[in-house]
Amino acid sequence: MVAVPPPSRAHFNDAVAEGFATAVADAVATLNQRRHGPAALICDSIFSSDGVFSEPAGFLADAVQVVRQVGGLYIADEVQPGFGRTGECMWGFQRHGVEPDMVTMGKPMGNGFPMAGVAVRSSHVARFCEEVGYFNTFGGNPVAAAAGQAVLDIIREEGLMANALVIGEQIIDGLRTLRKAFPTLADVRGTGLFIGIDLCANGDPARPDPGLTTAVTNGLKDRGVLVGAAGKYGNTLKLRPPLCLTAEEADIFLNALEDTLAECSRS
Ligand SMILES: Cc1ncc(COP(=O)(O)O)c(C=O)c1O
Repeated sequence: MVAVPPPSRAHFNDAVAEGFATAVADAVATLNQRRHGPAALICDSIFSSDGVFSEPAGFLADAVQVVRQVGGLYIADEVQPGFGRTGECMWGFQRHGVEPDMVTMGKPMGNGFPMAGVAVRSSHVARFCEEVGYFNTFGGNPVAAAAGQAVLDIIREEGLMANALVIGEQIIDGLRTLRKAFPTLADVRGTGLFIGIDLCANGDPARPDPGLTTAVTNGLKDRGVLVGAAGKYGNTLKLRPPLCLTAEEADIFLNALEDTLAECSRS
């Protein structure tokens, strides 16, 4: 296994697609030196735990081409971005114009009910199914299927993708306004209701501030808003609220963040 750096501007400046594809090509070369070559490229389609990297849409395509050229598969991990969270598409990979060989799904699939799934091109598993056959104890149980079906129905009936897009834009706009008063909000990025906010000393991207990030998450918690931290330095607030979030609830978050940042800047 070789890990590649996340597709961030910190690593690749404005050439995210080219830089990420080159990193994948370097990883392929390393695996070739180990004399087994690559089996697959697997990535979370929005690089959540790395700090949320969704832009520019399409940047994954070059890297996928690199791995396919040498016979590797592309596996899209949709556990975090899947089921409409980006607002633009049902799946994170669709924003990049690529079609995976395999898709892994989890958490939002059952909206709290424990379930996960994998979709694989039938051509990749035909031989396995012919020779071995597939079985698991709980796969396809009716209760999980009902939970998953309810999730799909509600996403469609309540227009949750459109809501993710509209409320996500409201939050991003609000955060960009807050940045003017609080430069420690060094970067705000994301798509739909999946947003990353970097906290850095004096707003300098070279000075990540995990201490401030912890203070901010605690301040938000005291004000009734739960937010986690992500990224290599733990200085990225990762926003991933319910897709049914209302405009009023988004404002509750923005006001709580403003209060918290003001409190942190006084101490
Ligand atoms: C991006 C990503 N992939 C995979 C997983 C694992 O999912 P599960 O717990 O359903 O195996 C997680 C869990 O947090 C995740 O965030």
